[in-house]
Order: sequence, then C-alpha cells, then structure tokens
Amino acid sequence: MTRLIHLQRAGVSVVADLTGPGLPAILYWGAGLGELDDGQLAALRTVMKPPISHNPYDQPWHVEILPSFASGWLGRPGVEGSRDGQDWSPCFQTTDFELASGIEAADGRIADQLRVRAADQHARLGLEVEVELLATGLLRVRAAVTSQGDESYTVAALRTVLPVPARAAELLDFTGRHIKERIPQRTPFTVGIHSREQRSGRTGLDAASVIVAGPAGFGYRSGEVWGVHAAFSGNQAVYAEQLYNGARVLGGGELLQHGEIILGHGDTYQSPWLYGSHAEGLDAMAARFHQHVRTGPAYPAGPRPVVVNTWEAVYFDQDLDLLGEIADRAAAVGAERFVLDDGWFGGRRDDHRGLGDWYVSPDVWPQGLDPLISRVHQAGMDFGLWVEPEMINLDSDLARAHPEWIFKTGDRAGYSSRHQHVLDLTHPDAYAHILSALDALLNAYPIAYLKWDHNRLLVEAGHQPSGRPAIHAQTVAVYRMMDELRARHPGLEIESCASGAGRVDLGILEHTQRVWGSDTNDPIERQQIHRGLELIVPPELIGAHIGPSPSHTTGRTHSLAFRAETAIWCHLGFEIDLRSTGEEETADLAAWVRFYKQHRGLLHTGTVVNADHPDPAIWISGVVSPDRSRALFGVAALRRSDTWPPGPVRLPGLDPGRGYRIEVAGPSPSDQAWRPSELPDWVKDAQVVPGLVLAQAGVQLIALRPESGYLISATAVI
Ligand code: GLA
Repeated sequence: MTRLIHLQRAGVSVVADLTGPGLPAILYWGAGLGELDDGQLAALRTVMKPPISHNPYDQPWHVEILPSFASGWLGRPGVEGSRDGQDWSPCFQTTDFELASGIEAADGRIADQLRVRAADQHARLGLEVEVELLATGLLRVRAAVTSQGDESYTVAALRTVLPVPARAAELLDFTGRHIKERIPQRTPFTVGIHSREQRSGRTGLDAASVIVAGPAGFGYRSGEVWGVHAAFSGNQAVYAEQLYNGARVLGGGELLQHGEIILGHGDTYQSPWLYGSHAEGLDAMAARFHQHVRTGPAYPAGPRPVVVNTWEAVYFDQDLDLLGEIADRAAAVGAERFVLDDGWFGGRRDDHRGLGDWYVSPDVWPQGLDPLISRVHQAGMDFGLWVEPEMINLDSDLARAHPEWIFKTGDRAGYSSRHQHVLDLTHPDAYAHILSALDALLNAYPIAYLKWDHNRLLVEAGHQPSGRPAIHAQTVAVYRMMDELRARHPGLEIESCASGAGRVDLGILEHTQRVWGSDTNDPIERQQIHRGLELIVPPELIGAHIGPSPSHTTGRTHSLAFRAETAIWCHLGFEIDLRSTGEEETADLAAWVRFYKQHRGLLHTGTVVNADHPDPAIWISGVVSPDRSRALFGVAALRRSDTWPPGPVRLPGLDPGRGYRIEVAGPSPSDQAWRPSELPDWVKDAQVVPGLVLAQAGVQLIALRPESGYLISATAVI
C-alpha cells in the first residue's frame, strides 16, 4: 500500500513516504505544495521516483531518513554499530506509525508530528523516528535506537538526513577561532562528503553552526535555501553528502567516541534533534530559527537589561572600592545589570589556580560579596556573577581533595588549556558537590544572572575509574544542572560563554538566556561574528559589549559611535573602565544606552534583515517590526570601497504598499565629519518614500570613513 504523509506549515511542505518496507523516506522538503489529495500525493511520488539503472542495483533505491545499505544507500549510514562485529548493517522494517496534528511537543512547541516505530528482528534492534514540522516551519528529526539482544550493542553513530534537490549546488557553513568566530565559507556541493565535525566536547569556536545548501550565489534576500543544524552542545557533526547517483542529503548527529554508548538489553540511545529550515534567502531561513527560540521555554522574560561587565575594565584586579566606583559610574550611564567576572572565588588571583573552589574569597572579599551587591542594588542594578562549573585547576582545593573527579584517559588528564582541566560531572559526587556549591551561592546572595563559562576542550575526557569516554553524559549533565539551578531559583538567567561563542547552539538555548558573542569587542570583528551567529540566534540573546578603544584583542581604534552602532542590535553591555573615559565619551555612551532602551522593543522582537549589497566593504542590515511599521537599519563600512559612491542601496523588509519617513538615526555620529554639500538630499530633508521604492530602487548612501557607520530609521506614515 502507498502511504504518503504530507505535513504542511508556515509555507513549508514535507512529504514522507512510508510505503516501505523499510524506514520512511522524506520524498520532499521545500516550499508549501498546497492541499494535495491522495491521488496528487501519489503522483508526486511517481514523478519523483528515480529510474532503475541496473548498475549498481537491479532494485529501486531510496534515501531513508536513516539511510541504510539495506535500502541501496552507499554513503554514510544512519545507524552504525555492532554487537562485537555482528548486526552491523541493520535492515529496519516499519511496524507502525502515529500522526498527530497541531500537538504540543515535549518542549511546548506546536507541531505536526509523525512518529514511526521500526524493528530489525534479526539484528534485535528497535528504532523510533520522530519527524516534526513546527509552527515556525522548522522541520526537526531525531531517532532513538533500542537494543533488544542479550549481548550489548555498541552505537557508533545515529544520524538522520534530509534530502535536498540538485539545484542546491552550493554550500555555506562556518568556521572560526578564538576572538574570530563564525567565519563564513562557501564550497560547491560536489560528490562526496563535506562534513563539519566537532570533537572538542562543545559546539566549538569553529562550529559549522549551520550548513546551508542553495543555488550558486544564494544570498540573504534571494535563493531557495535549506539549512540544517544539530541541536547539541557536545561532539557533533553536520554534513552535506552527494552520491555518485546525484542523491544529496544534509545530515547530522552526535559524534560518539568509540565505546561511548554501549546498550544493554532494553537500553535506548536517542540522537539530538536535527533542525532544518527551508526558505527563500538566508534572512527568512534565520527568521524561522529566531521564532523558534523566541517561543521556547527558556526564552527570557522582559527587556534585555544593559550589562556592565568588569572583565576588560579590571581583569583579576578585584577590589570593593574600585568596583563600587565602576558600579556607580555604570549606573549613571544607564547600566541595569552589573556582572562580576572571574577572580572573586577561592585562590583565583590569576588564571593558574582556583577553578573548582566556588566560595567567595576571603582575601579579596573579606566581608563577602554583600557590600558590593548592596552598592550595585543601591545604584539600581541587579547583580550577576561569573562561574565556570565544569572546570578545575590542578592548583585548587577541589583537585587536591578529589583528583578522581578530573577527566583522564589512561593515566593522563591530557593537554591543559588556560592551565585548567575538566571536572567530571558524570561522577555523581562531583555533580552533587558543584550543584550544591552553586546553589549555596545563589541562596546566600541575590544573584540574577550567571555568566557560565567553559574554557577548556573536552579532549581525552575519560570517566574514572572506568576510563570510558563521557562527553555525551557530561553534556547532558550540564543541561540538567542548569535546569536544576533555574528550577530552584526562578528568574535566574544563565549566559552560555565558552571563550566567546564556543557553546552556541539550539541545544544550549533550551537551557540558557544569553550567549556571549565573542571575547573580542572590536566592532569590525563583531560585525561579522553577529552576522554568523544571527543565522540561528535571535540578536537579543547575543551578548555584545561596547569595549574600550583601542580594542584589547586587536589593538584597533574605533569611535564610540561605531562600537555602539555595532553592539546595540544585540543584548547590549559595556566593558569600558568608566574611570578612564572623558566627559564627552561618557556622555556619548549614556546617549547610546538611552537609544538602545528606546529601541529595544523593536530591536528585540523584529525581523532581522540584511541587504545583498555587491560591495563587500559595505554592510547594510537592520530590524523590521513584525507589523512593518518601523525599522532601523545599520550601514557599516568595513573597509574602503574600491568605487565610491556605492550607488543606491535597497532597504530590505519594508512593506511595499506603505510610505516610510526615512531619517538618519541615533546619537550624532561624532566620528563623521560630514560636509553638508556631500550629503544626499534625503539626509538634509527627511523624506516620505514608498516602501516599494526603498525595496526596489534604494537610497543613496552617505560617504563613510572606513570602519565607521550610521543608522537609518524608517517609520511608516501611511
Ligand atoms: C573567558 C571569557 C571571558 C572572561 C574570561 C574570564 O575567556 O570568555 O569573557 O569571562 O574567561 O577568565
């Protein structure tokens, strides 16, 4: 019997073929197909079915959602594993399935859900596959394998794939490194595997983040794109694979170490969700992810408070008078949250020691944190604290007391990084110790927010005494600890930081309320980093701070205006030592903070848009309110353009049927010596322009110095 399931939501159609006899195959994932009756679905199947070429197979092959050798797939299989060399090529038969429409999924999201159960009697394996098309139009799939044999079954990999058509000829994904995250890279989608694999035990500063396939040259506003993302913060891989026969898939799953998952009789291993976003252009693809995060259970309530973080101002130099003064000055320019960074605990006077000893240092804070927190509260701010719960320095009380809680392989704890090692939270006593230490702090002090850092990679992360790899279990333990702390302390917010944006994914965003964008506050670096992060993360969850100039990480100098024009789009903060800023800079900073507060309603709920401008030196991006009555655009010159002026640029995302007043916005850009004669007429004389004209013809730009920018506001008048 032909069994075709059509899920359709938010302009996306997914057609799953359960005709069998094997696992379901996603026949189609793409733009909405409208209502299709059974006959029309059958016709879709008929026209999409590949002919038999007899070489290599006499039978038809199809791409199951977990592809298998048994169904003719010769690429990377969906299930890899064995019972000591047996049962390594499973052949699953679907046993039953359930279809539910508009249900509330386990995480509260509204979804159409297809749940398929399958079994391989011979290999004694059971499988459950979930396919959900969410209200946002995001597609997500995952699988759970259960061993039903008496001998243990070692899972080497459990991956799901989504098909993309041949016109998806180009790939975009990301790489990066410390203080330079989310560097885009494009490659043709050739035969073979383009696999982005992460073995550092965290999502990675070099995370692929998302692999996008689309027609050559796809951009933010045009080109049909399919993007996939693995929602997991431990080891994972996402990949694009094309076979000799042209079959193309985007796939992903957790990257398990040898022997990491061994299933006894009745045990189950579940893969993380693989998310897929299909849309016209990258902006629309990202908008589905943003909507998903914004409607998730962990999404923070209320406007995102302006943060003052002490790190670049004082580093380890913690002192009540000094920090009290910074707190007062920060509050005077409008900060709403004061975050005490690294150095407040144990023997932590520098980065060689102290991690693991989560008690307030009597040397630095003889009266505890109360005097500082009182001063912060008096100044009208809430209080946040830096922690790094998964880490340990060998020079710490904890390491001396419990060396067996440190991950090791063989007799070695592996390379240290920043003089630290990783604490094994899969050890129940270690988990209980850290949970209770953090809980005690949260009980003792009114802490609104934890900056939760993670600076060492999980290399050679073996559990003691078994020596078994434990990256999967550690990742799950961290999620659990975050949830436990938030359940015990309602309203607590957690930021995911890992030397910058090293742990940013849809998995951690189910447990945290902010991600740290990068350890660099240099606006040129940040422009690119934000663009990359924003393909998944809504900007209001990306921590972006106005740092000092020259930048502590790159040495570049930038005007305050450019630093602020870069940071205000995200969750704004600053790290400048306000004792060193002059009167004018302090006043400018206060003006930018006011501007952020006035506009954060728009910035934090709107749709992110980016113009596809041909000059790589000029970036135009913005946020348009959901009703399209207001928008704010940022124009940034990343370097000098080869030609000038760049000609009119389109302002994306506006309603073509309305008229907009367009004006230069923001506190006056003090770095721009604009000569009136050089200004385009619309700047001198605010204009009401049809949205269609702004979208199609565009506006002339103001001449910009390299590494500077300005803002344009658009307000609908009709
Ligand atoms: C990491 C973080 C920084 C800062 C330091 C403190 O590098 O990414 O923001 O908190 O640790 O040691």
